[in-house]
Amino acid sequence: MLKLDQRVLKLLNKEQFLSGQKIADQLDVSRTAVWKAIQNLKRDGYNVESVTNKGYMLTQTSDRLNETLLSSMISDSDLFTDIIYHESVGSTQKVAFQNITEKHQPFIVVSNEQTEGRGRFNREWMSPKSSGLYMSAVLKPHINLNEIIKFNLFISLAIAQAIEKSFNLAAGIKWPNDIYIDNKKVCGFLTEVLSENSMIQTIICGIGINLYETDVVKELENATSIESELLKNDRMGIDIELFLKHLVQEIEHYYDLFLSAPFSAVKDDWISKSIIFGHQMRISEVNHTFIGKPVDITDDGFLIVADESGEIHKIISADIEF
Ligand code: BTN
Repeated sequence: MLKLDQRVLKLLNKEQFLSGQKIADQLDVSRTAVWKAIQNLKRDGYNVESVTNKGYMLTQTSDRLNETLLSSMISDSDLFTDIIYHESVGSTQKVAFQNITEKHQPFIVVSNEQTEGRGRFNREWMSPKSSGLYMSAVLKPHINLNEIIKFNLFISLAIAQAIEKSFNLAAGIKWPNDIYIDNKKVCGFLTEVLSENSMIQTIICGIGINLYETDVVKELENATSIESELLKNDRMGIDIELFLKHLVQEIEHYYDLFLSAPFSAVKDDWISKSIIFGHQMRISEVNHTFIGKPVDITDDGFLIVADESGEIHKIISADIEF
């Protein structure tokens, strides 16, 4: 059941005023409850005009993350049943871990700011307030631990697809966990698991997306934001509601596929979105760094790299840089 704020939002019209009484009657609540819901919507960045004897009209939807928007993000989802929203947390990964035992169904954690955001290899993920999407998606498959490589491949497709659909920007995949636009990183994700006897109980997939142009992003040579990329094309405004909807839809779609199909089912799609093939790259494995060119990916998700002497390496986990 949607929260009252969302039900009121659904009724509000952009063309005409709707009286508080009408809203109250339709939702079977008091006028005071409607008034309170309107105040909540205003707090969340929605512009609602109120005129005596006429009622309320929505003049502008919100362009920032807020609780109302996030609840509607999963209202049509068959996969996610709950969303936890915070204004500020250390890391959404941490909050996700804390809620795993209590929540038996897949859920999402989002925060407007992270003070201890983490990236892969324990790097810091700068997460300034109101600047990006900081989200952890918790999934509960019962699959073997070695399937996790395949999971990353499917999720990268989901994120790239959601960015393309929402902003009409070409999003490329940099194996294994980054999404790039125009040769710069716009998103990174991190997959952590809880497992027992080689079987995965829970996946906690942390996704960080640079939405807005900030000093943090500007200072990083190889980073960009959705806003910067839109501005390059003389376009403005991020429809955050649409993006969140697409992101959940795509995660759901590719997660279903991940559970039901082999990587080969999406391999051509993945290769067409990949930005690494044929480029000279620095490949850093746990004890070994070398220069090589990715030339292919196997059906199991191993990256095939040819080093400078032509020797072929099969790589499953590494950090790779242009
Ligand atoms: C990377 O590129 O190294 C992965 C970055 C992942 C960042 C996200 S933001 C939401 C979630 N919470 C975290 O602390 N990290 C992930």
